[in-house]
Amino acid sequence: MDILMLGSGGREHALIKKLKESPKVGKLYCAPGNGGISRDAECVDISVMDKEKIIAFAKEKNIDIVFVAPDDPLAAGVVDAINDAGIRAFGPVAKAAEIESSKVFSKNLMKKYNIPTAAYEVFSEPKKAIEYIETQNKFPTVIKADGLALGKGVIIAQNLEEAKDAVKSIMEDKKFGDSGNNIVVEEFLTGPEVSVLAFTDGKTLKPMISSMDHKRALDGDKGLNTGGMGTISPNPYYTAEIAELCMNTIFMPTVEAMNKECRQFKGCLYFGLMLTPDGPKVIEYNSRFGDPEAQVVLTLLKSDLADIINAVIDENLDEVNIEWSNDCAACIVMASGGYPASYKKGIEMIGLDENGQVDGAVVFHAGTKYENGKFYTNGGRVIGVTSTGKTLDDALDNAYKAVSKITFDGAHYRKDIGKTHRVK
Ligand code: AMP
Ligand code: GLY
Repeated sequence: MDILMLGSGGREHALIKKLKESPKVGKLYCAPGNGGISRDAECVDISVMDKEKIIAFAKEKNIDIVFVAPDDPLAAGVVDAINDAGIRAFGPVAKAAEIESSKVFSKNLMKKYNIPTAAYEVFSEPKKAIEYIETQNKFPTVIKADGLALGKGVIIAQNLEEAKDAVKSIMEDKKFGDSGNNIVVEEFLTGPEVSVLAFTDGKTLKPMISSMDHKRALDGDKGLNTGGMGTISPNPYYTAEIAELCMNTIFMPTVEAMNKECRQFKGCLYFGLMLTPDGPKVIEYNSRFGDPEAQVVLTLLKSDLADIINAVIDENLDEVNIEWSNDCAACIVMASGGYPASYKKGIEMIGLDENGQVDGAVVFHAGTKYENGKFYTNGGRVIGVTSTGKTLDDALDNAYKAVSKITFDGAHYRKDIGKTHRVK
């Protein structure tokens, strides 16, 4: 089986490394990939959004499966186009990917099918949104741009002033472009957050091992929101009892709701959950693997990923047995100085071997470039250093030991991954 992976982050590197373990996988390509990925797969200079070039390349190389990993091409119908060309693709079609690409769609879906989520209202006019927020007079309140916004379209307003600023910047200043034509104003929920990724073929859903992301840039959950600064798996708050409850009240009802709306979801469905005092509720859906959730979750996957993705595409996921390691995993993201605001690129990285790896961890590359035997920074999130251990503490100790062997000018990473959220 020859596979073309679309994407260029740590998530795609984790997917490629896992697929490489499969005896069934032949040639691996990645478009466009990155420095670290180039040590494991052949990188091709094609944009993830360029449907024509992707299809032409897949035909030329007789690719068996195109794996569409990032959100933008999923929302833009890249899977639809690949399927129409008669090529197998892993990932939801655009109509199904809307569960992530439109918060208005996903919130309305949850309301219609009684799936627990924060109470909300949708607005297309800034004046009406502000009137509503004033009448509610309940803070903090949560304001979300409808469309994709690089994970930055959610603003938690502590008071009316902040709420007004948020509505203005999203709807009038168009901070996130057309993604802010509509907004969702929703109730502020509290409780630990859990990420649950699940394989589904639209009939069967098999949850992966749970994880916890750390979205803020700085220790103590301070600083700006990022794509994710580190993950642990499993999530210590996610008990077997809560997992069963989520299966019955959230996961299967979502699969069935999508089918009823004629939007069968096939691929990886990501549930961003909050364990509130009133039970687990959905904060967001993603139509893809999370990043850096994939890095820890796939590290603990014992089964052959190639078998699973084939079963999802062929709609016989019920026939596949998916096994998980009993170990724990931790991923520490090393980022460029300044990220998530502006940062420099092209800084030489010290401490990595010729494959971009280090003893005691697997280094998943995100924003790196490989030139003449050296690795250079090439993005905000640079690498995700991932280790396992018998306990979460062991996994974290191993990951931080590995991190200490790698340096580059301006590097920053959180020192408290898996620590502030430890169950007491
Ligand atoms: P999202 O992009 O929807 O995952 O939101 C980003 C982050 O904002 C989440 O991980 C939560 O920490 C926070 N958040 C989103 N919605 C809510 C809510 N209704 N109540 C409290 N926090 C929220
Ligand atoms: N780590 C969160 C996401 O991938 O959306």
